[in-house]
Amino acid sequence: MLVLGIESSCDETAAAVVADGERILSNVVASQVRTHEKYGGVVPELASREHLRNIPWVVNQALTQAGLHLGKIDALAVTEGPGLIGSLLVGLVYGKALALALGKPFVGVNHLQGHICAVILESQIARQAGLRADEAQFPAVALVVSGGHTSLYMVQHGSHDGSSSMSYQRLGQTRDDAAGEAFDKVAKLLGLGYPGGPIIDKLSRRGIPSAVDFGRIKMKGNPFDFSFSGLKTAVLYRVRGTPLAQEAELRRVWRKGAAERVTAEELSGHCTQATLDLVASFQNAVVTDLVERTIAAAESVGVSTVLVSGGVACNSLLRSQFAEVARGRALNVFFPSLELSTDNAAMIAAAGYHLLQAGVRADTSLTAHASFPLGV
Ligand code: KG4
Ligand code: ZN
Repeated sequence: MLVLGIESSCDETAAAVVADGERILSNVVASQVRTHEKYGGVVPELASREHLRNIPWVVNQALTQAGLHLGKIDALAVTEGPGLIGSLLVGLVYGKALALALGKPFVGVNHLQGHICAVILESQIARQAGLRADEAQFPAVALVVSGGHTSLYMVQHGSHDGSSSMSYQRLGQTRDDAAGEAFDKVAKLLGLGYPGGPIIDKLSRRGIPSAVDFGRIKMKGNPFDFSFSGLKTAVLYRVRGTPLAQEAELRRVWRKGAAERVTAEELSGHCTQATLDLVASFQNAVVTDLVERTIAAAESVGVSTVLVSGGVACNSLLRSQFAEVARGRALNVFFPSLELSTDNAAMIAAAGYHLLQAGVRADTSLTAHASFPLGV
């Protein structure tokens, strides 16, 4: 079954063709980073306009790269939510119109389910290529960690009579900022640019992660919930009214005057050791919290597979800390490639495939939802 996936929930316009939920024939992403970076975050109205401009050629490019014309597509999968409503509507309406014109089935996909399916898709690809012998076992615990979400789920994946279905139970979620949002806000505060996660990841390699002791993040109630706004405020207090704030201002001025996008190399030349130590310590605090709560959740529900996905899953310290912690336990941790960790449409097509296999079909009433919880 050839599924055309379309994703436009935030600031990437993406389309992909995936065969049988496991072979990526094309995966095209048009990033809007250049549009939003000068504002230090995504501007919803600008994002919608960019999606409108990009969607026709992104879909065409996905078909061309897959070597297919529209008539060969068996079904369409579009992101239904959560996300920016104007952005979501562009991809959803485009996909729905295509499906109706072609007379093909279509489904709405939860973006978070897409992120989880990205890990499963990648683990299948790695196994088929002989790169990894072990396979994700279900039930599994999934950490979805991005700019908009930080949630833990228990995932069940069942196959019956050739059809597969997935179900989700939410174990915990952030009570305030998502982890990626905290990375982005700290980078903005320090005049480091947008998006903050990849920049802080690179700069942190030059800082000492134990230089600033932020302490552990304490949670009352559900131990699998997250909270990063206190940590973000702790960084703010260490910067406000200090030479670090003046340094951040100088960096902002320098970055505005720079002709091209600055590299992490150039940026680090405009950072004192104190700033590098601060970002490395902040990253260490976020990553330690994500790893500890996820492992505790997996142990508490007694599963051996952990799936990590979403933009923050690109983080190099998160990957190495998970690998290290898993080594000492009977746990297998799976990450998607960097390409499939951030927003993409291959994950939407793969998730759509599972829904279609389970008999789900959308109709003309399908619409976008800014808030769209996954699981119960
Ligand atoms: O999944 P995604 O592409 O979009 C959302 O659904 O939010 O995630 C984007 C988020 C941003 O906050 C970005 O700063 C963060 O992922 N991110 C990272 C890294 N790469 C992207 N955070 C930490 N380390 C990274 N290497
Ligand atoms: Zn996402």
